[in-house]
Amino acid sequence: MDSGQFPIEQVRGVFPALATTDDGRRRIYFDNAAGTQVPQHSIDRITDFFHRYNSNTGVFNSTSVAVDAMVEETIGAMADFLGTPDPGEVIIGANMTTLTYQLSRSLAHRFAPGDEIIISRMEHEGNVTPWLQMAEDNGLTVRWLDFDRGSWQVEPAALAALLNDRTRLLALNYASNLTGGVNDVKTLAALAHEVGALVYVDAVQYASHRLIDVVDLGVDFLACSPYKFFGPHLGVVYGRRELLDSLHVYKLRCASDELPYRFSTGTPAFELIAGLLGTLEYFQWLAGLMGAEGNRRDQFAAAYRAMGDHEDGLSARLLQGLNAIPGLNMQGATTTDNRVATFSFTHDKHSPSTIARGLSEAGLFCHWGDNYAMEVARALGLDPVEGVLRLGLAHYNTREEVDTGLDLIVQALA
Ligand SMILES: Cc1ncc(COP(=O)(O)O)c(C=O)c1O
Repeated sequence: MDSGQFPIEQVRGVFPALATTDDGRRRIYFDNAAGTQVPQHSIDRITDFFHRYNSNTGVFNSTSVAVDAMVEETIGAMADFLGTPDPGEVIIGANMTTLTYQLSRSLAHRFAPGDEIIISRMEHEGNVTPWLQMAEDNGLTVRWLDFDRGSWQVEPAALAALLNDRTRLLALNYASNLTGGVNDVKTLAALAHEVGALVYVDAVQYASHRLIDVVDLGVDFLACSPYKFFGPHLGVVYGRRELLDSLHVYKLRCASDELPYRFSTGTPAFELIAGLLGTLEYFQWLAGLMGAEGNRRDQFAAAYRAMGDHEDGLSARLLQGLNAIPGLNMQGATTTDNRVATFSFTHDKHSPSTIARGLSEAGLFCHWGDNYAMEVARALGLDPVEGVLRLGLAHYNTREEVDTGLDLIVQALA
């Protein structure tokens, strides 16, 4: 096939959920910002785990040996996905929030009363409440970092104004799950490092849209959630080896002290870890369709380039349609620059919950409310319960779905 053309039919063909119907009607999944569908590669890996080697780890049974090998392979593939050469820096856990709580408890040992932490107002609560509670428990001062309503990102000058020699931590979003705005994490992390602060990045919303490179970003920690990038319900955190090695860790006395396992509490969800491997293999499969060559990281990069290009076209089409609807107020950038395909809006006459009910009943899947981006909703002066109507695109969506979706939205807002 033409390597420049996105193989949308082949892609959709490996996501069984996309062919599922409700009373004969195809679903339009525009709820991807809350969780994505899963390719057959991932489903097969999960089924295969239960068929062939469902067991616990660390003994000589063939099943256990297979589990150990699978977990190691997944961690290695995840390291390539995140851009670190060191698999010891990749912690897999229940979800982003649980891992962030766990790390906040460990990090608290490095901070003293009177120390300061900075939390941006672009965050999902998963990167807010754990730090607020850490600050409360340990007498730390919290400084809030505003985002700019024009650029829809945190401006370096705003961060610079808050940094001082007591700053210990910056909690920063890569992409907002409400506005879709993307932060210049590399520049902001470098600024925070100038005063010796650690940088904890929430890349949950970013990870399905653009490939992450933790080494290039120069961050200390970065969290993401596979269920937001076509995998199972898990969380993953990258942490710099020196930090993970030296952190006070809450673990059982008998559990491994080796990285990354020193942060594994209890028995992992092996079947989901197998599913994550399948997702990463899906990206490689897609790269193959695009005619890409090279190592695993090169293949991830090729897949993400292709997915991103296709998605950017959909975003431009959707935005053009939304911008033309009278009374509709975008809560985020009205162009495709510097954003991911997560779109939120309010309307002069109709509440988000009313619009969402109508769209969901018509088969256009969407979300509404503050979407746990409480600080963003507050900063934008949104109704705390109603929030926004949110649409999130993924690379398996089509132009036809965007056009049908726009028609349904126009009807709902008439
Ligand atoms: C930006 C962002 N951060 C964090 C989270 C929480 O992730 P998890 O469900 O893995 O705890 C979400 C989930 O919606 C999110 O969108």
